[in-house]
Amino acid sequence: MSLEHHQIKAAFSKAAQQYEQHAVLQKEALERLLERVDFDAFEAPQKMTIKNILDLGCGTGWAIEPLLQRFPDSQLIAADFSADMLAQISPHKQVECRQTDAHAIDIHANSVDLLFSNLMLQWCDEQTVLREIKRALKPGGLLHLTTMGEHTLHELRHAWSKIDDKPHVNRFVPANDLAELALRQGFDDVIADSELITMTYGSVIDVMKDLKNIGAHNTDNQRAKGLTSPRVLQELTTHYQQFRTDDGLYPATFELVYLRAKKSNKDKGLPLRIKD
Ligand SMILES: C[S@@+](CC[C@H](N)C(=O)[O-])C[C@H]1O[C@@H](n2cnc3c(N)ncnc32)[C@H](O)[C@@H]1O
Repeated sequence: MSLEHHQIKAAFSKAAQQYEQHAVLQKEALERLLERVDFDAFEAPQKMTIKNILDLGCGTGWAIEPLLQRFPDSQLIAADFSADMLAQISPHKQVECRQTDAHAIDIHANSVDLLFSNLMLQWCDEQTVLREIKRALKPGGLLHLTTMGEHTLHELRHAWSKIDDKPHVNRFVPANDLAELALRQGFDDVIADSELITMTYGSVIDVMKDLKNIGAHNTDNQRAKGLTSPRVLQELTTHYQQFRTDDGLYPATFELVYLRAKKSNKDKGLPLRIKD
């Protein structure tokens, strides 16, 4: 595991207890992702039987209840690499919590009907995780996930770019590139689309605090270390001004990318994980 990877895990573990109070965007993304699952599971011409669900990067388990309501006869594996996140989940007879990394999922090949993942992929190496997801899915199994797109936090990135050229804001993959990656992994029926969600804050500090509270601050190895000084914060605020809303608030744009794909019915998958 790289240093960066350790830092991401540590940041989420630290945020676990207050995660739900602050994760407004995640909750919204979750609702929207569930609507898409509904379409495939209940409205599309070819209805699906969903018995085994994997919620990958499940966090505090927000998706568990709505997923079990929709699929009451299913078994669900709630998977996350943070034990502190998993510790927030109440025991349930249909749910097994599993501490595992999305880059090497501890799960049998060809065992999952629905792989659901809300806002985890942006912390990962997309290609490796998509390969793992495909291994986990049964032939004909369905993937529905959200991640962050390239326009996410463009205001903050712009403001920082006026101060120095360090990578203060994470880079996110464009929706088209994600679709391309899924197609290259051999997924069928790939659809990637995105929408912008804007949140508003009273100050630039509030924008940055919120990202930290949900474990979403920058963990890039090249980033400037240490606290942002009052002088830099003032500069940052000055460069953020051009984005302020009519009522004087500071907007932060999040591009929510949805990826929907199927594992081919003919694809029996790889029984063993291939090491690069
Ligand atoms: C933004 S939270 C989303 C949590 C949940 N899906 C939700 O909708 O509230 C991202 C979650 O992904 C987990 N995560 C990030 N990278 C991971 C990885 N490589 N393997 C497993 N879990 C990971 C984090 O621990 C965190 O719980």
